[in-house]
Amino acid sequence: MKLHAEKLFNDPRVKEATKLLEDALSEHKSALKKVKAPDKELKISYKKLIDSFSQVRGGNLWYPYLGSGLGNGALVELLDGSVKYDFISGIGVHYFGHSNLDTIAPSINAAISDILIEGNLQQNNDSYLLSELFLELSGMDHCFLSSSGAMANENALKIAFQARFPAKRILAFEKAFAGRTLALSSITDKPAFRKGLPQAINVDYLPFFDPEKEEESLEKALKVLNSHLARYPNDHALLIFEPVQGEGGFYPGDERFFKTLFKRVKEEGILIFSDEVQTFGRLDTPFGFQSFHLEEFVDLATIGKLSLVTATLFKDKIKPGPGLLSQTFTGATSLIKASLLLMSKLKNEGFFGKNGKNFRINELFKKEFQKLEKQFPDKIKGPFGIGAMVAFTPFDGSKEKAVAFGQKLFEAGVISFIAGDHPTRIRFLPPVGVITEDDIFKAVEIIAETFKNSP
Ligand SMILES: Cc1ncc(COP(=O)(O)O)c(C=O)c1O
Repeated sequence: MKLHAEKLFNDPRVKEATKLLEDALSEHKSALKKVKAPDKELKISYKKLIDSFSQVRGGNLWYPYLGSGLGNGALVELLDGSVKYDFISGIGVHYFGHSNLDTIAPSINAAISDILIEGNLQQNNDSYLLSELFLELSGMDHCFLSSSGAMANENALKIAFQARFPAKRILAFEKAFAGRTLALSSITDKPAFRKGLPQAINVDYLPFFDPEKEEESLEKALKVLNSHLARYPNDHALLIFEPVQGEGGFYPGDERFFKTLFKRVKEEGILIFSDEVQTFGRLDTPFGFQSFHLEEFVDLATIGKLSLVTATLFKDKIKPGPGLLSQTFTGATSLIKASLLLMSKLKNEGFFGKNGKNFRINELFKKEFQKLEKQFPDKIKGPFGIGAMVAFTPFDGSKEKAVAFGQKLFEAGVISFIAGDHPTRIRFLPPVGVITEDDIFKAVEIIAETFKNSP
């Protein structure tokens, strides 16, 4: 051991302290075994806290959620003493569940590291190793780390615009969600999300794949694409797509649909950008574009959410010039170290493939939802989605009813979120890394009970 740092990280006292913390967490988390209603006394002060927090942040929280700081896999304890199934995992972040013992060692390592947060001027070896891992998983040439999906997407847009200068426009799909910066709000296809904002980028939309009208939807998209290309010749820098539309309502794409459009797009020299902030890690391959066999087309891809550290991955031929990309923060040291460990698990522990855990979990959800559909034929449609992205439409798909059902489900002990408009669906991004069959059965019982109590 030549480095003093190696001596520190391998110090037996550090190992012993880590073991003690693992034992303590293991013992306390095991107390959380099942869904539990709020504690009557805590409930009153909790309500006040939630109201104050909403006041402080200048808008209501979506759910009256304040975590206690402890969970157990798919279960999480809230500050009102309730225990709930977390099937949305902070919108897809905590794929390896709550209070995961594996993350103690990297977190302790980070806590005794010299810096709390890494960034462009100061990165430790873990940043390099994580970048290499993302390159290996993606097959891309370069990886630039960042600290939010939006920032990863901004970096991708900048790389593409610079490479395709002076092209000014982009192509995107209807119902796209790309993030919430000023530029990304121009792409995200939701008027409410850009109300009052100037249009920062000119976007030409294409209709997305419709599984009920495969041929027709392809023909229509191709026609619209050709008309945009004719109207603005040589003026599109890139086409952005989500392999499975996430916020738009959990709509998977289709290999032939994508390939046909992408061939045409490539004829014009336009770059193709796969926004995988939501899909990364959730299908039968690490990246969604691999699942649809689009490797030859994709020039840029971004990841986020479950990767904990976000990244922009790109081909060598569009390498940006010096000065285009830089950031004070790329990620907290603890997150970079935890991501390195968890992404290695994701790669090696049976999550991918047609029989991998992502797809097996989907099958289980599907079977259970089909039973629910039989039980409540007027109240539920679905299931929809793919892999570790599962959704159903409650009632008539109206936003009001879906939101109200989600709130009821939360009270009953299952945390979900909505996606899409007309119809609005209830969606799950479950913690596949830790979820058990029993968790799914119990959560579905709660969903059934909630449907029973919802006229
Ligand atoms: C497809 C997609 N792109 C980008 C983003 C933005 O990521 P973030 O919220 O981390 O900025 C999201 C977030 O939901 C997303 O689903």
